[in-house]
Amino acid sequence: MTTIQSSFRDALGRFATGIVVVTGEMPDGSPIGITVNSFSSLSLDPPLILFCLGKTTEKLKAFIEGENFVVNVLAEDQMDISNIFAKSQDDSFNQVKHDFGEVGCALIDGALAQLECKKHEVHDNGDHYIVVGEVVSISTPNDSDPLLFFKGGYRTLGDKA
Ligand SMILES: Cc1cc2nc3c(=O)[nH]c(=O)nc-3n(C[C@H](O)[C@H](O)[C@H](O)COP(=O)(O)O)c2cc1C
Repeated sequence: MTTIQSSFRDALGRFATGIVVVTGEMPDGSPIGITVNSFSSLSLDPPLILFCLGKTTEKLKAFIEGENFVVNVLAEDQMDISNIFAKSQDDSFNQVKHDFGEVGCALIDGALAQLECKKHEVHDNGDHYIVVGEVVSISTPNDSDPLLFFKGGYRTLGDKA
């Protein structure tokens, strides 16, 4: 990593985020999930959200070729789920309780919010794609606190530095 890449990563790590698992379907029909902290709201009318997807992940096809996905916003007790979906896909869904929603992608049990989306657009930028989704169904099944990511590690709202 060059000096600029390292200071870029360090600076961006100072921007605290939540963590989501975006679930989708691979071309062979198998469910897929990827841990993401580049999630953002984009538009209220129409209701659009976005996330950034690295071009090297094996999970890419689910979101480039697939039409639907679900954004699952993780709760503070779901660090293990974040770690499961930050690895290459194998038997992730055997380890995580879930149902399937309206658009056919996994709704993870215990998530703070589940945004079911239809793919709207994909933008090619640098070493990532920006995936934009139109939200077609919303659930907020859990009211507890969020899992956070800051300076390369997990945090919760009550943490002191
Ligand atoms: C907290 C956290 C946030 C992440 N955010 C992103 C992200 O925004 N975009 C992305 O493409 N990968 C992100 N990742 C990495 C992916 O989860 C990881 O590369 C992928 O699940 C591994 O699949 P692969 O082996 O097929 O690449 C993140 C990982 C963690 C732990």
